[in-house]
Amino acid sequence: MKGLHLVTIACMFLFTAGHRNMGPGQGAPTSGCPSEELFLPCECEGSAVIQCNKAKTTSEVVESFKQKFEDFGAFGTFHMKNTPVSKIPSRLFGPAKFYSFRITGNLNLNSVEDNAFAGSEPFAEHIDISNNAISSPSVFQAISKLDQLKYINLENNSLTEVPNNAFGNQALQFISLRYNKIQSVGQYAFQHLANLERLDLRNNLITLLQDNVFDFVKTTVDYTSIALENNKISDVSNNALVGLKRSEVLLSNNLLTTLKAEAFQSYFEKIVQFNGRAIVLKDNPFYCDCRVKWIVENKSYWPYIGAMTCHDGRNIQSYKVEELEDC
Ligand SMILES: *[C@@H]1O[C@H](CO)[C@@H](O)[C@H](O)[C@H]1NC(C)=O
Ligand SMILES: *[C@@H]1O[C@H](CO)[C@@H](O)[C@H](O)[C@H]1NC(C)=O
Repeated sequence: MKGLHLVTIACMFLFTAGHRNMGPGQGAPTSGCPSEELFLPCECEGSAVIQCNKAKTTSEVVESFKQKFEDFGAFGTFHMKNTPVSKIPSRLFGPAKFYSFRITGNLNLNSVEDNAFAGSEPFAEHIDISNNAISSPSVFQAISKLDQLKYINLENNSLTEVPNNAFGNQALQFISLRYNKIQSVGQYAFQHLANLERLDLRNNLITLLQDNVFDFVKTTVDYTSIALENNKISDVSNNALVGLKRSEVLLSNNLLTTLKAEAFQSYFEKIVQFNGRAIVLKDNPFYCDCRVKWIVENKSYWPYIGAMTCHDGRNIQSYKVEELEDC
């Protein structure tokens, strides 16, 4: 009995010491929770977890979060999984703040409003809203406000575009947008992401890489890996790749028929200079003619061109300059 008491006191001490940078799952057991009955259908499992997996409607969740919360910093993780809830409205969470959001498998969830995560700006580091039906571009505004965010998973939703200047989260290291229906990626969409290591845009419907799409103001990471496999990319604008320095661009299984010197040459020059990673180009319908002579002429690019197979089944590296005319 006495032992238990000591533990409780120790916990309370740790807690009231206001350890505000406490990571997910490290909180004291029941702190901060509102009245259990009034909070239904949501459940508060101490400062580590709040879950609303039994919610049936958006308004039920809204009502739950109107309850009184002790003001103590942030909860660990908010979970909402496999519910029929259709919307995350602005300011849904009222006074409750979170380090992490996991809102997944909600097949009717199509809208995340632009202030959905209000209050969690100084805390949220991790957001997984994959496997829903989100189509509203306001989700990008909602996410962009979370300054401390390191990880975003928006996989397997119904997004059709990434807006211009979509992300402002400077700490971001990982973004996945794969398995959406994205047709266009806006200019400067990732501009401020100095710490980005992985951008996953696979399995979308992107047709064009437009100017300044991958313009990073500054990068502090060694490499940014940009995965664009399984899209419909047939065109790359002349200034689409100019902002890239040390990066890896994966373009397999697209609809590229050539590599225009105007769009790719300065990028290859940078890869050579920084000894970057190869552009991987497997499974594109390349037609190798005078337009790719600039590659055949300069062997220093060759190691950085991965799996570029031409219309005649040969690798670009096996061509001889004499085989290609001038354009
Ligand atoms: C996408 O989400 C749905 C619904 O949660 C799931 O059934 C499906 O397997 C997911 N697909 C992928 C590619 O993850
Ligand atoms: C080939 O490309 C390299 C790297 O960009 C460059 O330094 C060199 O001058 C080029 N050579 C020719 C013959 O154009």
